Amino acid sequence: MSVSMSVSMSATKVWNGARKRIYMQEVGTRDGLQVEAAFVPTEDKIALVDALSEAGMAKIEVSAFVSPQAIPALRDAERVLREIRRRPGVVYTALVPNVRGAERAIDARTDELNLVMSASESHNLSNLRMTREQSFAALSEVAALARGAGVPVNISLSCSFGCPMEGDVPETVVLGWVERFVALGARGVTLCDTTGMAHPGLVSALTQAVRKRWPATELTLHFHNTRGMGLANVLAAIDAGADRFDASLGGLGGCPYAPGATGNVCSEEIVHALELMGYDTGVDLARLLAASKRLPALIGHDIPSQIVKAGRRLDLHPVPADFEAIRERALARQSKPQN
Ligand code: COA
Ligand code: ZN
Repeated sequence: MSVSMSVSMSATKVWNGARKRIYMQEVGTRDGLQVEAAFVPTEDKIALVDALSEAGMAKIEVSAFVSPQAIPALRDAERVLREIRRRPGVVYTALVPNVRGAERAIDARTDELNLVMSASESHNLSNLRMTREQSFAALSEVAALARGAGVPVNISLSCSFGCPMEGDVPETVVLGWVERFVALGARGVTLCDTTGMAHPGLVSALTQAVRKRWPATELTLHFHNTRGMGLANVLAAIDAGADRFDASLGGLGGCPYAPGATGNVCSEEIVHALELMGYDTGVDLARLLAASKRLPALIGHDIPSQIVKAGRRLDLHPVPADFEAIRERALARQSKPQN
């Protein structure tokens, strides 16, 4: 069946005759590489970002302008941002925790600053060494600096679906932080499931609540596949009105300050699934897979990606070498009278 036929049969994915667009935002070069023991050489990071641009990602979180002592793997953020080939239409963002980071990011011509704090006090203290109020005060300064420079900001709220140290984070708390950042002028908000505590029911409720109260705010969902619910959460979020997802090439990723953290939802798995379901991700899956296959050599270990291991659904395999002999034996049995 052709793609257009399958799409036209599934009315929920079609808007005005076009396939519903889902924006794929790559975080592998930031969330992915930040926890890797191996330092990926700067030239290889640049080549990876260029490959992701060519594959059609809508946004790429290229690196993080954080303390090089805290995250040595990303100490080359400036050079990477300066030397990537910028494809028109792709937004090149970077994680920024403080004013120092914002100055560095703006200087390196970053298109958007991705601010970060946690919805949970314990995780914010562990990750950023500040109380949430201290983070908010620092990020207010960052937002003012960005406004002055004409650079939009997005806020990534870690632990929006639960904290590994505190447990459930009440919806009112998460919405309270969203409200404060929207008031600060944030263009977008990312609800991060930092340690894979989200489940489809929770995702649906929070996505709907944010969509309803702030329809003009760019909403991103950021899931980790820690408990195997990544794709289910993406689908629940789409049904609840979301259209932007962070994902990481090969399924790399994890927060260094979150116990038991594992990879983000895998970019190629999400693209593979959503395209089969009739969504338009704008991503060339073959190019994405080619980029993902380069990862093990760069990081020195295997990657979680199921699609790299298994191939796409219709990547067919040759029949066994003795297939003709098998067929002949089967047909011979068939022609023998049964008794
Ligand atoms: N860029 C470069 N260097 C920075 C920096 C930045 N954005 N922010 C702080 N630093 C440097 C300071 O200059 C200082 O260096 P020095 O010791 O040589 O003087 C050192 O880092 C410590 O700075 P301080 O302001 O005392 O910060 P801190 O030790 O309380 O750390 C953070 C706070 C947030 C800057 C740091 O913990 C950090 O960058 N964490 C990264 C968090 C992260 O990325 N987590 C994963 C993603 S969610
Ligand atoms: Zn993450």
